[in-house]
Amino acid sequence: MAEILEKVIDEEKQGTAYAPFSNDTNQYEKKFYIESYGCAMNFSDSEIVASILHEEGFGATRNMEDANLILINTCSIRDKAEQTVRNRLHIFRKMKKSKPGMLIGVLGCMAERLKAKFLEEEKLVDMVIGPDAYRSLPSLISEAESGQKSVNVLLSREETYADIAPVRLDSNGVSAFVSIMRGCNNMCTFCVVPFTRGRERSRDAASIINECKELVANGYKEITLLGQNVDSYHFTPEHAQDQTNSVTFAHLLERVALISPQLRVRFSTSHPKDITDDVLYTMAKYHNICKCIHLPVQSGNTRVLQMMNRTYTREWYLSKVKRIREIMPECDISTDVIIGFCSETEDEHKDTLSLFDECKFALAYMYTYSERPGTLAERRYKDDVPEDVKKRRLEEVIAMYRGHSLTSYQASVGQTFEVLIEATSKRSEAHWSGRNSQNKVVVFPKENYNLQKGDYVSVTITSATSGTLLGEIVSI
Ligand code: SAM
Ligand code: SF4
Ligand code: F3S
Repeated sequence: MAEILEKVIDEEKQGTAYAPFSNDTNQYEKKFYIESYGCAMNFSDSEIVASILHEEGFGATRNMEDANLILINTCSIRDKAEQTVRNRLHIFRKMKKSKPGMLIGVLGCMAERLKAKFLEEEKLVDMVIGPDAYRSLPSLISEAESGQKSVNVLLSREETYADIAPVRLDSNGVSAFVSIMRGCNNMCTFCVVPFTRGRERSRDAASIINECKELVANGYKEITLLGQNVDSYHFTPEHAQDQTNSVTFAHLLERVALISPQLRVRFSTSHPKDITDDVLYTMAKYHNICKCIHLPVQSGNTRVLQMMNRTYTREWYLSKVKRIREIMPECDISTDVIIGFCSETEDEHKDTLSLFDECKFALAYMYTYSERPGTLAERRYKDDVPEDVKKRRLEEVIAMYRGHSLTSYQASVGQTFEVLIEATSKRSEAHWSGRNSQNKVVVFPKENYNLQKGDYVSVTITSATSGTLLGEIVSI
């Protein structure tokens, strides 16, 4: 059961593969097809890649049979994520056998982790391109077209793709991701990201604001600011005389919120050691900054947290949760947790359960520990919690979380929320689906109102499941 639940939860977060859609695809002679795996940063990067490829005369296609170039933007966070990519590559390889001119390129974190080894392991891959090397795609494609295998996995200390206007792929025209920083300077011992994404760097604030304004001008209503650790965003403009002109994450958040009261602002991910009162007060000050914080805990036990090098204790984490709830009682908190990290004892696992019980997360992504080659944990510690124990512990955490999540959803019954309409409900043409500020999905009948996606409506909640609120429009 745990495996199934883990899969469901994994897919909710990781997303399944998606193919791009571009309605101007016919104007391009050559076509590319891209699938993305992993975190939102990867999905956002695919939009940068699409922009670079458009400039090179490649249009996007949803149909891989039509493509001259197949790209897969990969994730290395857990072994399972890499297996998914290898399975997809089998399918692409079969296709390439019947279409020899077609090129296959591997992008993203797995490309960075395996580098040229990828070409040895997966013979039919033509290109391997790391997350900081997308500008070199045109030259790598030319090399590959001339029959050479091409690799660029150089990590950069500066690259933020600030000047590249992303081509929105598979967009609903309402919500968009905007990347504000790249890389990560934290060295959580379990994590492959510092090795695949390199050093942390913040993107020029002006270019972020411009991108957000452009989105608003194009009718977008919700922006999620992305970074592995958004609270350490810090940008000093070149002309600034001193650090007093630096832009912190709280400043940036405020500037984005001020673009339009009609724009909702979200962000992810916050590190418990870095989230500041400034950020919390900024969130509280602006109605359009969504009341929802993703605050990964990783473990409820201080010894395990220390081994993970998270640099906070259980008590520190709990005090942050308390602070968030003091400043914004209506704010939902979600988390990530890793179950069965090296040497985790039964009592330490119980600490995770009791932390979950105390925090009552509205949403949690729960994973069993997956040892990643090259990480500090792989070098320092033994992955010694047996798989069946990890799975059983995961089931226990999932069961507790499900109870809290149901309670959190049921507590919304009778309340009225402002909901941003995203789409027609997948289950019924007669219903809209949208989200409230807390990021909970709200489904309600369209009735006879003349509404469309991107509109805000007030909805009173009449019933709830553990993942959806059902309601009725009270005003538009
Ligand atoms: N930067 C964020 C943070 O600091 O929490 C998230 C990073 S990661 C992309 C997303 C989640 O994957 C992590 O929060 C962690 O729970 C999980 N994760 C990372 N490495 C893992 C591993 N080796 N095994 C299992 N889960 C892992
Ligand atoms: Fe990985 Fe830790 Fe950086 Fe998050 S903060 S990306 S978990 S190293
Ligand atoms: Fe995966 Fe890389 Fe994101 S490892 S989770 S795609 S930063």
